[in-house]
Amino acid sequence: MKNIFSINTIISITLFINVNSFLFSQSDPEEFFEKNCFSCHTIGGGRLTGPDLKDVEKRKDAAWLEKFILNPESVINSGDAYASKLLKEARGVVMPKVANLDQSMSRALLKFIREESSKEKSRFAGSTFADRPLTEEDYMIGNELFIGTKRLKNKGPSCISCHEIAGEGFLGGGLLGPDLTEAYGRLGGKKAIAAWLANPSSETMSPIYKKHPIDEDEVLPLVAFLKNKAEGKDIVSDAHDFNFMIFGFIGLALCLVLFDLAWGNRLRAVRKPMVKGELS
Ligand code: HEC
Ligand code: HEC
Repeated sequence: MKNIFSINTIISITLFINVNSFLFSQSDPEEFFEKNCFSCHTIGGGRLTGPDLKDVEKRKDAAWLEKFILNPESVINSGDAYASKLLKEARGVVMPKVANLDQSMSRALLKFIREESSKEKSRFAGSTFADRPLTEEDYMIGNELFIGTKRLKNKGPSCISCHEIAGEGFLGGGLLGPDLTEAYGRLGGKKAIAAWLANPSSETMSPIYKKHPIDEDEVLPLVAFLKNKAEGKDIVSDAHDFNFMIFGFIGLALCLVLFDLAWGNRLRAVRKPMVKGELS
């Protein structure tokens, strides 16, 4: 019960932050697209987590698309054949319902995508920063950023405070977010996950990392780390895991001392007199 309560509290806080950012943001479709859609869709740059949206209206009519953008899950759950096909092509990743999106914005976004599609090259054809190959150094830095032994440049929280990932951290990671061991393949590989991290579209992460963005130089290291974890590779050659373990032991020892104090007293203060009382 206690856990459910605290998760609810966190969700309420998140909603509050979302509502706030809504009140203070303008609703220009280009800006809206950049902040809420570009992490999963290019316009003319190939597929990321979601399909390339260039000329999407040639594949499906505007009325259907407008409805889909507003509430993807409900269209998918209705058993719609085209939606099922999209879902399959996206390896089962369901497009999330985007916060603060209403019917007029959905329509404006489609119009914007139409205009961008007719350009020779849209500025949303995809970024190129993820083109260089991943290195072992990336993995090392990504590891430190993930578990928080190295702070993110813009002071965002470290990933481990909300995520578990194969074998990382003595006490495991936080449980608010999903286990990320398989995230690399699930979201569609290097380019897709890089775009995703440059602008996380998760309802929980987006308000936090909009204020404290993951720096471009930090994205590929994190990508390398997620990739290696997904492939079950583990390059363990730094001392940080060990430090983390030591901290874990110290924490555990402190907890044991505290428990002992608390329970020791309770027995003396409450149970002993009762036990004695029974006997005498
Ligand atoms: C977290 C990733 C993600 C985000 C963010 C996202 N989408 Fe999607 N989108 C998808 C996926 C995945 C699909 C394919 C259907 C499915 O699996 O749910 C999709 C499908 C679509 C389609 C249908 C494409 C087709 O080929 O018919 C449109 C249109 C669309 N999204 C528009 C948007 C718009 C506009 C936004 C921003 C308001 C947005 N999406 C945000 C992942 C995302
Ligand atoms: C405040 C908690 C929090 C922090 C910190 C956080 N995340 Fe998340 N993350 C979430 C939650 C919750 C989700 C699930 C989507 C949702 O509910 O918003 C998620 C989803 C994800 C996903 C998508 C997983 C999938 O399979 O769809 C990836 C990838 C991800 N996070 C990576 C990271 C990385 C990398 C960091 C560190 C830079 C990080 N997260 C930090 C809470 C967090």
